[in-house]
Amino acid sequence: MTGQPMLEQIEALRAEALAAVAVAGTPDAVRTVLGEHLGKKGRLQEVLRRIGSLAPAERGPVGQAANAARGAIEAAAEARERALREASESNLAESEWVDATLPGTRRPAGSIHPVSAMIREVEDVFLGMGFDLADGPWVEDDWHNFTALNVPPDHPARDLQDTFWLEDGNLLRTHTSPVQIRLMARGALPIRSVAIGRVFRNETTDATHEHTFHQIEGLLVDREVSVGHMVFVLRTFLREIFAQEVEVRLRPSYFPFVEPGFELDVRRGDAWLELLGCGLVHPRVLVAGGVDRSRYSGFAFGLGIDRLVLLRHGIEDIRHFTGGDLRFLRLFRWGGAR
Ligand code: FA5
Repeated sequence: MTGQPMLEQIEALRAEALAAVAVAGTPDAVRTVLGEHLGKKGRLQEVLRRIGSLAPAERGPVGQAANAARGAIEAAAEARERALREASESNLAESEWVDATLPGTRRPAGSIHPVSAMIREVEDVFLGMGFDLADGPWVEDDWHNFTALNVPPDHPARDLQDTFWLEDGNLLRTHTSPVQIRLMARGALPIRSVAIGRVFRNETTDATHEHTFHQIEGLLVDREVSVGHMVFVLRTFLREIFAQEVEVRLRPSYFPFVEPGFELDVRRGDAWLELLGCGLVHPRVLVAGGVDRSRYSGFAFGLGIDRLVLLRHGIEDIRHFTGGDLRFLRLFRWGGAR
């Protein structure tokens, strides 16, 4: 047998293998083509198995042709595989491409309600003056809200604060003053505390009156407390909150739980806005709280937080606070105009 048919077979095999490599669509497909042609049981091997039947002089050229074919097919396969991998990587770069400069999805930002913000500020100012923070329940009993505060049953002063009564005889506290009684009843003296929270009144609303609003109650009980101490604390507090001296006036006023009692107004343009009630704690209230009135005296004040916020931001109507209009609340998203 001559080597010629085998050389032709090798040539045909090489051409077929190169064509198959050229159309292989994936690296796996390239490797399959390689296996079929160059593997141990592949087609080239089949041809070479018969090389022993050639005359020795014919064997060299056939072996060389087989090696050349193997080299060419392997090189083509390698190149094809690399090209396929690169293509799939650049496809990935295309499909996974992200424009980092695109604006993100905006989530609506929440904001701190201006009344909450003011509560935190007021707390800070009083903490700075050495007061501590106290608290009391929204649902109160008659004794804490009225009787212990020197407003006995059937006393006309009960009409000053329109009350939401509950069916069980309790009530929604009409002011934060019941916390005074709770503080004194704890029995630890001296007292220098503020209590901030929600209060409720069954009254008709208008631009400066809400049915649900917030008060801050201040109570200081110690030896020889005077009106002078009280005015000093209130003035210091208002100067801190308004970041300037504010024009205030103190009017004698009646609250059953203080004697003497005052109302403090703040100037707002040409008008005066009633901001707080205050006075020296009435001796009967000290007694109801279990405090020795012969050794201790105190001052107390009750202030509308919502009114402070009206003044601070020049808001014209208190009903915005609980009105739930998001357009109003959004004005305070960045801390609000000051
Ligand atoms: C009282 O509630 C007394 N407990 C205050 C007090 C405490 C006096 C300690 C003396 C000693 P008055 O009802 O005036 O008082 O309310 C106090 C403050 O709450 C007012 O000055 C005002 O700033 C605010 N306020 C009263 N009613 C309303 C309302 N309907 N809406 C918003 N703020 C109000």
